[in-house]
Amino acid sequence: KIMSKTQENLMAAFAGESQANRKYLAYAKQADKEGLTMVAKLFRAAAEAETIHAHTHLRNAGKISDTAANLQDAISGETYEFTKMYPEMIKDAEAEGNNAVAKYMGFVNAVEEVHAKLYQKAAANELSNTDFYICPVCGYTHEGPMTEACPVCKAPAANFYTVG
Ligand code: FE2
Ligand code: FE2
Ligand code: FE2
Repeated sequence: KIMSKTQENLMAAFAGESQANRKYLAYAKQADKEGLTMVAKLFRAAAEAETIHAHTHLRNAGKISDTAANLQDAISGETYEFTKMYPEMIKDAEAEGNNAVAKYMGFVNAVEEVHAKLYQKAAANELSNTDFYICPVCGYTHEGPMTEACPVCKAPAANFYTVG
């Protein structure tokens, strides 16, 4: 269906605020590395505010449904990424000889496929009663504690962390 100008604006603002959030968190890490603790704090505080803006815009755009519908939306987003978006981007990176990016995007592609499968599991009400563990290198997302190296990027199991 056709979006109103305001709804279109909300989605553009959502994209911008979302990017600002992740960018400021990356900038905060860099500021910490440079020993600029106060600047890091400011970046993290502003990042938090941008998240509030992003979530309010998304809600006002009417884009948050019930969880059953949100899971379907998440499945289609992840599926688009691993079947179309990343495969094409990987080809482009290879064509331009950017092998590091092609390789990392290959990892990401594999992780998005895992996300689609996990969301499908959730939609079928088949998640185990356990925490999720994340690979700090590639983002590989594992249901339950990790006992062996990352199946995607080979990072050691000990480096995985949980987000509950
Ligand atoms: Fe903002
Ligand atoms: Fe994903
Ligand atoms: Fe990994």
